[in-house]
Amino acid sequence: MENRLKILIVDDEANLLKTLSDILQKHGYEVSVARNARVALETMGKGAFDIALLDVRMPHMDGVELLERIKEKHHGLEVIVMTAYGTIETAIRSTKLGAFAYMLKPLDIDEMLMNVQKIVKLKALREEARFLQWQLEEKHGYKNIIGKSRPIRHVVETIKKVSSSNSTVLTIGESGTGKEMVADAIHYSSRRYAKPYVKINCAAFPENLLESELFGYEKGAFTGADRQKIGKFEVAHGGTLFLDEIGDMPLAMQAKLLRVLEGGAFERLGGNDLIKADVRFIAATNQDLEKMIEEKCFRSDLFYRLNTVVINVPSLLERKEDIPLLIEHFLEKFSTQMSKKAPRLVDETVDLMMSYPWPGNVRELANAIERATIFCEDGIIKPSDLPPNVREGHVGLPPAHTSGEHTLEALEKRHITDTLRRTKGNKNEAARLLGIHRETLYKKIKKFNIKRPTV
Ligand SMILES: Nc1ncnc2c1ncn2[C@@H]1O[C@H](COP(=O)(O)OP(=O)(O)OP(=O)(O)O)[C@@H](O)[C@H]1O
Ligand SMILES: [Mg+2]
Repeated sequence: MENRLKILIVDDEANLLKTLSDILQKHGYEVSVARNARVALETMGKGAFDIALLDVRMPHMDGVELLERIKEKHHGLEVIVMTAYGTIETAIRSTKLGAFAYMLKPLDIDEMLMNVQKIVKLKALREEARFLQWQLEEKHGYKNIIGKSRPIRHVVETIKKVSSSNSTVLTIGESGTGKEMVADAIHYSSRRYAKPYVKINCAAFPENLLESELFGYEKGAFTGADRQKIGKFEVAHGGTLFLDEIGDMPLAMQAKLLRVLEGGAFERLGGNDLIKADVRFIAATNQDLEKMIEEKCFRSDLFYRLNTVVINVPSLLERKEDIPLLIEHFLEKFSTQMSKKAPRLVDETVDLMMSYPWPGNVRELANAIERATIFCEDGIIKPSDLPPNVREGHVGLPPAHTSGEHTLEALEKRHITDTLRRTKGNKNEAARLLGIHRETLYKKIKKFNIKRPTV
């Protein structure tokens, strides 16, 4: 059998070696023996063991010293120390050095077998945890962030550096650039990967609801609070809280959030107990927070608290060389989902996709590929399979003579208005075409005061 656990027994007593190895073998373990520490180290150098049973008193090098040597070199090898001359000191030292158990001689064989069983379970759990982490990383880790351009490589490098720390991270970038993906990658590459990962979209709640979502409340805190509710801060304890669209957090909430960021403690609404939560924060925004500070819509103290580490996620326009890779990635992804053979793009389609400015960034590109994969015929994506705006290179740019409308905001308003007109006022469809969330579109419609388009 290949998967049998390998045990090494080290003892200078021949009788004990014999008895113990017979018993362990009978229980299905693969056993090797060594009469002293030198032979033990040699044997361990030749093959990997799972468990070592060490006697303490042996000539030349005692078991505790051997334990120390083992722990330096052989990670994952669990050690049980056994001695006939038990002292508190050796027991403490062995435990400190990382022994799994400390047993007195004469050995209680049942206890020994139980300890070995416990190690077997521990190893299985560790393996499972490793597999889980591997799976999570595979799905959400930074390896999924496609791109070889300089700015995206810089993003990935920063993720690798910050994920091992607990520092607050602010990700900034246009809509659809992959800010949430960055946050996911940080969480799943961090030590907190198996702990809760909680996300909240600050734009999706009116002020008072956002507060109770984050802090939770006690029964009776307000009319309708008929039971206690645990807030996101508490749920995220030990893990990571992703505050999406932080630029949309109302000012009063910003002050409360700052308090939590600084002290790590808060109260539930209507409660008096100070609750401590160990949470790592990642925030994201597509807004210009510094401009918002000037306009007094964002607190500067919160901004400085959040921007310890800033990750600027580049727009697709800044990394056009990644477009072919992304096309390939999404072709593969969607065709697999649809159980189709991945279609091919004719050169003209690629040219159009390379020259289109992708205001909705990767999300817009992904949508275009998904749509083309559905509509294309004979496994070939022609320009006519692309969404009309991509096909026409049309992003609502105002004609040159309407000068005075060249600010980014004016262009954005114009593009949204055009898209709404094209979708005959259908906001869901417009949001999809624009590659932004529906809530974001609603906010922009309000902000720019866009009236129902006259079709
Ligand atoms: N570099 C990338 N490689 C592969 N997929 C990406 C990349 N960047 C973004 N995506 C995909 O694009 C979509 C949008 O990404 P994400 O939701 O992270 O963007 P966002 O910046 O949070 O957008 P918004 O501001 O609208 O919330 C997702 O489906 C994501 O998987
Ligand atoms: Mg997002």
